[in-house]
Amino acid sequence: MDAKSGSNANLKTGKLTLGDKSWSLPIYEGTIGPDVVDVSKLYSEVGIFTYDPGFTSTGSCDSKITYIDGDQGILLYRGYPIEDLAEHGDFLETCYVLLYGELPTAAQKEDFDNRVVHHTMIHEQMTRFFQGFRRDAHPMAVMVGCVGALSAFYHDSTDISDPTQRMIASIRMIAKTPTLAAMAYKYFIGQPFVYPDNKLDYASNFLRMCFAVPCEEYRPNPVLARAMDRIFILHADHEQNASTSTVRLAGSTGANPFACIAAGIACLWGPAHGGANEAALKMLGEIGSVDRIPEYIKRAKDPDDSFRLMGFGHRVYKHYDPRARVMQKTCHEVLQELGINDPLLDVALELERIALNDDYFIQKRLYPNIDFYSGITLRAMGFPTTMFTVLFALARTVGWIAQWKEMIEDPHQKLARPRQLYTGSPRRDYQSISRRK
Ligand code: CMC
Repeated sequence: MDAKSGSNANLKTGKLTLGDKSWSLPIYEGTIGPDVVDVSKLYSEVGIFTYDPGFTSTGSCDSKITYIDGDQGILLYRGYPIEDLAEHGDFLETCYVLLYGELPTAAQKEDFDNRVVHHTMIHEQMTRFFQGFRRDAHPMAVMVGCVGALSAFYHDSTDISDPTQRMIASIRMIAKTPTLAAMAYKYFIGQPFVYPDNKLDYASNFLRMCFAVPCEEYRPNPVLARAMDRIFILHADHEQNASTSTVRLAGSTGANPFACIAAGIACLWGPAHGGANEAALKMLGEIGSVDRIPEYIKRAKDPDDSFRLMGFGHRVYKHYDPRARVMQKTCHEVLQELGINDPLLDVALELERIALNDDYFIQKRLYPNIDFYSGITLRAMGFPTTMFTVLFALARTVGWIAQWKEMIEDPHQKLARPRQLYTGSPRRDYQSISRRK
């Protein structure tokens, strides 16, 4: 049923009792997954707020896009298992599914691919934006700035009340983030920008924009392009995570879509979220060899040591992250194709083996997440660690935009405005500065 229509005749309710008074709270059932208690009228009817720092028990919206069962390690986009989409489809098909809700027919797919392809270039004036950044600027800083700046260049797609403009903005974002991400990389390493080549598929085009130089011929490697495409699919959406919630929160104010996505990119940057793949690779490098693993496992278990095994644990997955399995396979394929024997892969495999058999990790249900293997893979493909989170942002853009669209198109959508438990001083008198001690 629609969680907000209240039209379900068999609506379940729960009882809240405080002292000698009781209230009835509606309970909604999703298609799958746990039920939710509707507390939206709690303050007006009962006079209290719920308290849930970190939103560990709070559903902020209802959504038809992505489903995660963290206990069983299941991830579905519009009902389709992530493993199937990664194995049989391509990233633009995943974009279509996320945006439209159904797998495209061959004609729909061709039309969608063409629409994306025709928006890959960015306004030439935007290249001047790059010159404003210091040469050593982190590419994520460049992405936050440049994606936000798209709103200054594409005025014809910022009217969020117009469905056509919303869709054009969505397509533009999917098409232009690879171009901007590749430009951020090229600027960082001091090479000329490479313009998109629309004959190529999405992933090959991106790899070319990153790794081609004007003085040499570039031939995309199909194994690496397929791996890149799969990495994009695996990162495309993940329901109401921190950055997606940021995009929805920013969008609830009526802000334009480019500004909302820039807010999501800023949120993704943190090491507890999108920055974890960079941190995981750094950690594997620090461990360096298999014989040093026990020392790091000991540190991770020590309550007095703030060290954590990066790439391990997840707020939602309390089972093996299904994306990590596909990522591990992709990692092997890439290393094999490139003939790389990376000692960090040995460290990762052994660390995973030891952690999965260790009581601490078993009891706390800490399993490798997607970031555990993505760093090794991306490094082998030639990306510096500073680009890892940028690639995540590129892929997640479609998820953010699908979630933003769903929210804007929801007639019950409201300005997001959480409340708080105030623990500061009660009202007190202002003292003039001469009387303060
Ligand atoms: N290594 C060692 N101990 C850990 C780890 C870890 N990676 N993760 C959690 N724990 C322990 C933690 O110390 C705590 O122990 P205790 O109950 O004794 O205090 C317990 O497990 C629960 O941890 P939490 O921080 O309360 O759990 P959370 O759900 O808030 O944290 C997390 C989730 C992802 C922030 C955390 O597991 C972590 O910091 N992992 C490392 C960073 C990482 O890999 N992040 C990528 C997440 S996947 C990418 C994405 O979706 O953005």
